[in-house]
Amino acid sequence: MSKGTSNIKKLINPEKIPRHIAIIMDGNGRWAKKKFMPRTMGHRAGMTSLKKVVMAASELKIPILTVFAFSTENWKRPEEEVSYLMNLLVEYLNKELEELHQNNIKIQMLGNNQNLPNNCSLEIDKAIAKTANNKGMVFNIALNYGARDEILSAVKTLYGKIQTKEIMLEDINEKLFSSYLSTSGMVDPDLLIRTAGEKRISNFLLWQIAYSELWFTKVLWPDFTEGDLWKAIYDYQQRDRRFGGLSLK
Ligand code: IPE
Ligand code: IPE
Ligand code: MG
Repeated sequence: MSKGTSNIKKLINPEKIPRHIAIIMDGNGRWAKKKFMPRTMGHRAGMTSLKKVVMAASELKIPILTVFAFSTENWKRPEEEVSYLMNLLVEYLNKELEELHQNNIKIQMLGNNQNLPNNCSLEIDKAIAKTANNKGMVFNIALNYGARDEILSAVKTLYGKIQTKEIMLEDINEKLFSSYLSTSGMVDPDLLIRTAGEKRISNFLLWQIAYSELWFTKVLWPDFTEGDLWKAIYDYQQRDRRFGGLSLK
């Protein structure tokens, strides 16, 4: 780590730590291509970045970290790549579960757990159950997640409840609607990070990021380090968040 990045860590204001950080981990394929390697090797290198970033976020006492691991649109990729990604997640959970648990991290999944390979669902259930009572950082893994899919599921569930008169139409407000999303009960992301230079959201947390601060970097996910996370947090702390009101500065 360069001297520059460790200095940034010292500049982070512990009083203004983002309550929820969301990350679109992008650029694994491009990283591999640059090195004349198969895309799968990029995903493997991306797993190493994930390990480091999760630990760095937990060390900084970030209350919630949400990472985008696989989107509802990523099924369009070749079957071989999809199954490699699923198996990689199983491997990650298998290898890291003990350390995550020791660090009091609570693992949760966002996304549709139907259609996932059996070994993947089993590993996820095991990780969620083992860490369920942990009180440290909540670590959400968005897998087979799509924000539109999530919003539509909420609408369908609410419609059912209106029909059975469990809920009245007049009761529906932003708070109630949020509670039907997979992030129910969680504060919205304060900071959304996307790596690899793309400036788009790709169907991630559309409802929840209404007022998130966006931070983009050209760094490819396998090259992303703790130092980049600190830089993102430091930059976030310099922003003037107005939420439609007037500046307090
Ligand atoms: C991110 O890297 C991982 C997933 C989307 C699962 P990509 O695989 O999208 O890498 P690029 O965008 O092709 O470089
Ligand atoms: C977003 O990345 C999904 C994940 C990081 C899991 P993509 O690589 O799938 O997004 P697009 O296709 O460039 O928008
Ligand atoms: Mg990509």
